[in-house]
Amino acid sequence: NWTPAQIIEDQISRVREQVGDRHVLLGLSGGVDSSVVAALLHKAIGDQLTCVFVDNGLLRKQEGDQVMETFAKHMGVRVIRVDAEDLFLDKLEGEADPEVKRKIIGNTFIDVFDSEAAKIEGVDFLAQGTIYPDVIESAAAKTGKAHVIKSHHNVGGLPETMKLKLVEPLRELFKDEVRKLGVELGLPYDMVYRHPFPGPGLGVRILGEVKKEYADILREADAIFIEELHNAGWYHKTSQAFAVFLPVRSVGVVGDGRRYEWVIALRAVETIDFMTARWAHLPYELLEKVSNRIINELEGVSRVTYDVSSKPPATIEWE
Ligand code: XMP
Repeated sequence: NWTPAQIIEDQISRVREQVGDRHVLLGLSGGVDSSVVAALLHKAIGDQLTCVFVDNGLLRKQEGDQVMETFAKHMGVRVIRVDAEDLFLDKLEGEADPEVKRKIIGNTFIDVFDSEAAKIEGVDFLAQGTIYPDVIESAAAKTGKAHVIKSHHNVGGLPETMKLKLVEPLRELFKDEVRKLGVELGLPYDMVYRHPFPGPGLGVRILGEVKKEYADILREADAIFIEELHNAGWYHKTSQAFAVFLPVRSVGVVGDGRRYEWVIALRAVETIDFMTARWAHLPYELLEKVSNRIINELEGVSRVTYDVSSKPPATIEWE
């Protein structure tokens, strides 16, 4: 029975032994796993670590700033922030198929990451936030046993052409252990205990074609929902909660005119393993507050709905 502090000490010496005086590259997403790897490696090898954070324009509100604040400013980690919003939106233009959108986002990420990596000299290692369930899942996928419904790209999706050796200090750990490590390493509680966020981000929460206008509205709606969940003490009672952008026009009456505007759906679930999930029974007052705020504060939204579908058959994400 190891304590988080012991696991950290053990991994630090293992990483130092593996890496020596060479340089390590890490794709930092802002999610728990890559954040914990960043903090751990920074402690182990300091400036031999360079992180690349790709802003694909499909992140949550202020996500990029928060990552820079936490890692670059407070911890002194070397982080390169790449603003690739235009590139991702260009590549996604005209595409409505969810699985194709996932592939485009994944491939574009690899391209951007690859070209950033090429600019850094003397990198021999690639660090990844692979955790034990990822290892199991990808092993199962290789033998064809997994029921692979969606093209997740958490393991093995990174630049194969780069010929870098892998550093994966979380490979033997479960999520709750990774979180404990994160707290022990001094990462902010809110970052460590944040809801999971899919790799394709808002790209699969905007139904059909992705447009900047939609992403901007959705980011704001999502931030309002999350803020009110925190205010009401409900954020940590749900396993995942977010807003979804529905590109349909629904009527609203403003003054004496009828205006046809977009619809936002709210999704909040309780689950242990994300394989099955129950929609969260949020208080009506909370839903009312979120709905009023979204409709009043966001131009272009006339209606808010709440998703009361269980998984199965409805998945947690809408795409
Ligand atoms: P579903 O929608 O399949 O989601 O019930 C189960 C969990 O997986 C997340 N999810 C993804 N994560 N890439 C990811 O990294 C994806 O393409 C993806 N699709 C779904 C989802 O947010 C939920 O936590």
